[in-house]
Amino acid sequence: MIKPHHIIWHDSSITKEDRQKQNNHSSFVLWFTGLSGSGKSTIANAVAKELYDRNIRNYVLDGDNVRNGLNRDLSFSYEDRTENIRRISEVSKLFVDNGTVVLTAFISPFIQDREKAREIVSDEEFVEIFVACPIEECEKRDPKGLYSKARKGEIPDFTGIDSPYEEPLSPALTIHTNVQSVTESVEIILQYLKNRNLI
Ligand code: PPS
Repeated sequence: MIKPHHIIWHDSSITKEDRQKQNNHSSFVLWFTGLSGSGKSTIANAVAKELYDRNIRNYVLDGDNVRNGLNRDLSFSYEDRTENIRRISEVSKLFVDNGTVVLTAFISPFIQDREKAREIVSDEEFVEIFVACPIEECEKRDPKGLYSKARKGEIPDFTGIDSPYEEPLSPALTIHTNVQSVTESVEIILQYLKNRNLI
């Protein structure tokens, strides 16, 4: 994946600031990370609805959806997960440039990849949200039956079973989905965004 020398970035005549001004809100990334079944997509979508209702342009990028299209060539090997997160980060950056709030719901299990995502997007526009839930609870929920298949050896490299998940060291927020309801979780996130004047 080498960038050819003759590829040069073109600045758009409409800037990110122009778009944010037109939208009447800032743009940034809410980066949800956590185990499969922890509730990333549920919370991201619930926050997205609240933002939408407040006329805040937003878009949810979700693991299963992105892996059906843009990243359909990627497996769950260490290298491919890294490439998955790199591409998502670049796409997120474009969305932010477009004045859109992005909510990403990917396991994104490796600290180094999430830090690279922060670098690509920019520190001030990147909000890391750890969707924390004990693996026992995720496995009990098992909404797609994947843990059960992984335990039987039918899905190799399954996060939390035979592939690692590195918890964030200092996330902006930690949501405990085994004790907090979706409504409470959404409220915590919205309050944080208000406190930071992001919304
Ligand atoms: S990663 O690690 O960030 O690249 O993963 P992500 O793109 O978020 O994709 C996770 C979803 O893919 C399904 N799935 C697996 N997850 C983990 N490990 C393995 N081996 C695997 N195989 C398939 C699973 O449905 C994940 O969705 P969520 O929403 O996290 O449950």
